[in-house]
Amino acid sequence: MKACLLQSGAGIAGLHMAELLVRNPEPHEIRVQMKSAALNSRDLSFARGQFPNPAAHPIVPLADGYGVVIAAGQEVSRFKTGDCVITSYYPFWTDGAITAEKTAGSFGAQFNGTLAEEIVADANHFVMAPRGLTSAAAATLSCAGLTAWNALFVAGNAPPGARVLLLGTGGVSTWALQLAKAAGMYAIVTSSQDEKLERSRALGADATINYRNHPDWQNEVLRITDGAGVDLVVEVGGEGTLARSLKSAAIGGTVVVVGRVTGGGAVAIEPGMLIGGAKRLTGITAGSRQMLEDLVRFVDINRINPVIDKVFSIDQARAAYEYMATSKHFGKIVIQISA
Ligand SMILES: NC(=O)c1ccc[n+]([C@@H]2O[C@H](COP(=O)([O-])OP(=O)(O)OC[C@H]3O[C@@H](n4cnc5c(N)ncnc54)[C@H](OP(=O)(O)O)[C@@H]3O)[C@@H](O)[C@H]2O)c1
Repeated sequence: MKACLLQSGAGIAGLHMAELLVRNPEPHEIRVQMKSAALNSRDLSFARGQFPNPAAHPIVPLADGYGVVIAAGQEVSRFKTGDCVITSYYPFWTDGAITAEKTAGSFGAQFNGTLAEEIVADANHFVMAPRGLTSAAAATLSCAGLTAWNALFVAGNAPPGARVLLLGTGGVSTWALQLAKAAGMYAIVTSSQDEKLERSRALGADATINYRNHPDWQNEVLRITDGAGVDLVVEVGGEGTLARSLKSAAIGGTVVVVGRVTGGGAVAIEPGMLIGGAKRLTGITAGSRQMLEDLVRFVDINRINPVIDKVFSIDQARAAYEYMATSKHFGKIVIQISA
């Protein structure tokens, strides 16, 4: 079967097609014909050699994927042939609190990922896909959707009516916007481009800020919220945004640190703001299989249709990575593997 291979640090140019052998599933495994795989910022980091503890040899990249079960080992009870499944980002984090052991490996970083015509793996590493989505859309839940879910509802613990601030319009933030609106929250979105802000308003954003036109955008957040600030920030920016995100949070508010698109360097934080403002600062990394199953149910019930910016074919995998590197996208970039 055809697969893409990439060595961590080899760059986008290091991505190449290979012919790999497929084996029959062991009793606890399933064999999945992959239909789509979605790109995340972490996949660019892996290509650039910036992802922590990568496999030391070339592997199949990407963590997110959707496919159809074409064979199941005799001990597998969770799936049968013909079921549509998606990958669980941390295969060993089934449920409960995060531990180092549960997050020791993820698809497309420490072991083979989803950019292949087939995957053979433990049935526990997958969940049933949402029923109403296209293959491309279903492929975006495993990382971006799950991270947005964890940030808003698990780590963020945001109730209906909460005011949330979402930075930028990439994969995680756009997912967070769609989930927040379905849950009845008030969403403020920032972006570098007015056109992306317009698209965010069409998805339900209640207020928008162009962070290029408003470099001190935390003041805009405070103005929009009548001086109060927001209950929750889904903080994807890192070095360049974290201090402003904290200033944007209301008294008692939470900043969930998810990413570092502006850099991962040190940030000066005033302890007094956390103390006097009783603000909570917490980091997350993707989520458990249980959280992913909760997300799938929520997506089905609320008929959420994740935003796909562009779909590439597997032969255009390098172009898909290059497009992601431009940050021109709004929502998700997907690679279609088979029809
Ligand atoms: N912790 C986790 O489990 C987890 C999971 C997934 C992702 N992440 C991390 O989260 C971050 C986002 O991931 P992603 O896959 O959503 O990336 P993405 O799709 O590439 O989106 C990145 C977006 O960041 C926005 N951005 C850039 N500079 C900004 C700034 N100064 N202020 C506000 N927004 C800015 C841009 O939005 P505009 O074009 O609209 O300006 C850009 O589209 C990455 O650092 C990624 O590694 C972490």
